[in-house]
Amino acid sequence: MRKFRGIFLKNDYEIGLLREANRIVAQILLELGERIKPGIKTIFLERLAIELCQKFDVKPAFKGYHGYPYALCCSVNEQIVHSFPSERILTEGDIVSIDMGVIYKGFYGDSARTYPVGTITPEASRLIEVTEESLYKGIAEAVVGNDLNDISRAIQTHVEDNGYFVIKRFVGHGIGTKLHEKPEVPNFVPKTAQRLPLKKGMVLAIEPMVAVGTDQVEILADKWTAVTKDRSLSAHFEHTIAITKQGPLILSKP
Ligand code: MF3
Ligand code: CO
Repeated sequence: MRKFRGIFLKNDYEIGLLREANRIVAQILLELGERIKPGIKTIFLERLAIELCQKFDVKPAFKGYHGYPYALCCSVNEQIVHSFPSERILTEGDIVSIDMGVIYKGFYGDSARTYPVGTITPEASRLIEVTEESLYKGIAEAVVGNDLNDISRAIQTHVEDNGYFVIKRFVGHGIGTKLHEKPEVPNFVPKTAQRLPLKKGMVLAIEPMVAVGTDQVEILADKWTAVTKDRSLSAHFEHTIAITKQGPLILSKP
């Protein structure tokens, strides 16, 4: 694979495989979303996800990754990311972020979205809206000739203009034959930010995590679950995109 500053640049064939991997992730997220309603347990979504992986003939990417025990992350309310599916019952007014990854022919798919459970408060619904919008603002900057910081800045500006907080502890990433490749894709412009010109063939998982009240994170005793320090609500949206001559191509679409 061609490289630019240590970053793998994918050709059209490789982008085709990444597109298939990510299309499957998107299809699974869509089918999981249809089952989310008050009264279901998050472990039910995990079982469904595993069944769907078998149906689409892909391997779940997260299970076993640095010891992560499940195929899905199901993060409810103040949980930001990396929460275990469990016997927890979703109740009316919750918001739940589902993060899913698969491996297809050696290539990774990775995508996430936050779903409302039944009717939610206007504040929760605005948080979800702003987080998803910030992802699309970031994606719009993923064009040849721009800099990686343009993606980060677009996300940060939209989040902060709306009075919310960008979680800085977790970042997006390059993706390909590994789940996490170079470069890191922060959802803010770091103080020590370097310039990285965006090139055709870069494939990035862009994934803003946004909270209502703080950017401070706490990790629970299970060593994985990340929650907001003030226990305020948090949302997470992630798309895997390819940078092409014609602009950003969202791969994680059903
Ligand atoms: N989308 C997340 C990431 O890219 C999910 C990783 S879950 C893990 O980091 F279990 F694999 F760590
Ligand atoms: Co990711």
